[in-house]
Amino acid sequence: TESVEQLVERLCAKIPDHPEPGVLFRDLTPLFADADGFRRTTDALAEAFRGRFDFVAGIEARGFLLAGAVAYASGTGIIPVRKAGKLPRETYREEYVLEYGSAVLEIHTDDVPRGSRVLVLDDVLATGGTLGATAQLLHRAGLHVAGFGLVMELTELRGRARLGGHRVRALYRV
Ligand code: PRP
Ligand code: HPA
Repeated sequence: TESVEQLVERLCAKIPDHPEPGVLFRDLTPLFADADGFRRTTDALAEAFRGRFDFVAGIEARGFLLAGAVAYASGTGIIPVRKAGKLPRETYREEYVLEYGSAVLEIHTDDVPRGSRVLVLDDVLATGGTLGATAQLLHRAGLHVAGFGLVMELTELRGRARLGGHRVRALYRV
């Protein structure tokens, strides 16, 4: 039978020149739309970090889909890491660099107790800017990064090198 890695590879759509010329965009919506694909993906991420985390953090927007399912499967709560201006109470903010320009991510300062171990989930690791900024946010909130769980890692962009000594698990590396 098909491995999780094979499942991700088969159900990842590749879109040339999106969102701009020269970029081959990896779209995981077919995987998420497949009942078996989504369940096996979220189960594999939960299993890779079993016993190591107290909360799950999902990164807007596609990380939210994974984080909800993994939190439910593992019996933990969930924290949203959001784009600027969306969270209504006091936040920590981190600016990070994208391929063109910059963006801001935020978390609430007090959603979960300081000292908690947080598993961060997202669909794709590319340059690592998004996860690097998320690690900074968690540190500022007094939280431990239990690790980063990804469905796919685009290895040639070397994002893993920006994530320090944290545990990184990607179901499919390309
Ligand atoms: C994508 C993806 C990751 C991030 C990876 O999100 O879902 O969060 O980029 O890129 P990086 O490793 O170079 O930081 P995007 O910023 O497109 O946001 P969206 O999910 O709201 O569309
Ligand atoms: N797919 C999804 N998210 C991304 C990609 C991609 O190819 N590159 C950077 N963020």
